[in-house]
Order: sequence, then structure tokens, then C-alpha cells
Amino acid sequence: MAHRVCPYWVGYLLVSPFRRLMHNPEEILRPFIATGMTVLDIGSAMGFFTLPIAKMVGPDGKVVCVDVQEKMLKSLQRRALKASVADRIITRVCNPTSLCLGDFVGTIDFAVAFAVVHEVPDARSLFAEVFQALKPGARCLIAEPKGHVSAHEFELTLAAAEQTGLRVVGNPKIPRCHAALLGKDQEGNR
Ligand SMILES: C[S@@+](CC[C@H](N)C(=O)[O-])C[C@H]1O[C@@H](n2cnc3c(N)ncnc32)[C@H](O)[C@@H]1O
Repeated sequence: MAHRVCPYWVGYLLVSPFRRLMHNPEEILRPFIATGMTVLDIGSAMGFFTLPIAKMVGPDGKVVCVDVQEKMLKSLQRRALKASVADRIITRVCNPTSLCLGDFVGTIDFAVAFAVVHEVPDARSLFAEVFQALKPGARCLIAEPKGHVSAHEFELTLAAAEQTGLRVVGNPKIPRCHAALLGKDQEGNR
């Protein structure tokens, strides 16, 4: 699988309002997000999903955004200020081999990894960190673009997730993406 990190300028395309015609963040995420939640946005870039999530979690919720590109997160912060939701967004620059979420262990109600897993060098280690960060019973939505990721590669991604203790608990339909809902069991067992 290609592990090339998406260039900064692509971030501007990803937040284009036209993208909503194909990927409407509210339609995709509303079933999983409630007010007051702490949501993890993995590879958030400039925040196409982050800002709608911040509105969905409301003033008592939080969105934790991790990305390897600081410039993406700086742009996200500017957009969050404009949208008056910056107070509930935490940004963190991570590195390619770690999400650097040691201080968020067991605190995340829901995670989303949209179009990012194929850019990560070691999916299994990513999912191991996601497993640690999720609360027992919490879920994680992953979506991978069919243009970049074959069906076989997506199967391998799901197998890597299952090796860490996450289970496939749903198969949401997202246009032009392979998608799966992963869950950590209620007891938090692997
Ligand atoms: C194709 S963009 C998708 C952005 C966003 N999720 C969306 O759908 O609009 C992938 C993002 O993941 C980030 N990324 C790449 N490798 C990463 C890693 N190892 N950990 C965290 N973020 C990463 C990139 O910097 C980029 O911002």
C-alpha cells in the first residue's frame, strides 16, 4: 500500500464545500456522535470533518485532532476560530509511527480515521494506539478511498485492526470508500 502523506495543498481541496455533495459529514457521523462526547479525528488535515464534529459534540464536548503536518493543524485552528468552535478543539502534531496520545488513554468516546490509514506506515500499531485511547464499548469509523486502496488492501487493514483487539461491528456505506465500524468490547478486553 502507498504510504505517501497527502501534500499540504491537497488540504484545501479536501475542505471544499463541493465535497459535501459526496461526503456529508453530518450524514456520515450523526449516527455515532452525541453532545458531550470526546471524539478523536485521526489525520484531520484542515478539518473537513472536525468542524461539523465540534458542532455535534457541542460546548461540553471535545474533538482531539492529530496529524503529522503542523501546517494542516494551523489551518484547522484558523477555520475553527472563524466557526466559533475553537474552544472545543485540541490539536496535536503526531509522528508517522505514533499518534502521541498517551495522555488520552481510555478517554475517547468515538474515533474517525477518514482517508488516512493508507498513509500510515504501520496500520497495526496505529490501531493498537486507537484501542488504548478508546473507552470500553467505544467505536471507530474507518473509511479508505477506493481510488487509492484496493478491496484486498482494505481487508488487510481490517485484519490489522482485529489483531489489536478491535472488532468489525458494522459496515456503513460511504460513497467511493471502503468503510467499517470497529468496536472495543464493553469490558475493554483484547
Ligand atoms: C488524505 S488526508 C485526509 C484528511 C481528512 N481525514 C479528510 O478526510 O478530509 C490524510 C491526512 O492524514 C495525515 N496523516 C498522514 N499520515 C499520518 C499519520 N501517520 N498519523 C496521523 N496523520 C497522518 C496527513 O497529513 C493528512 O492531513
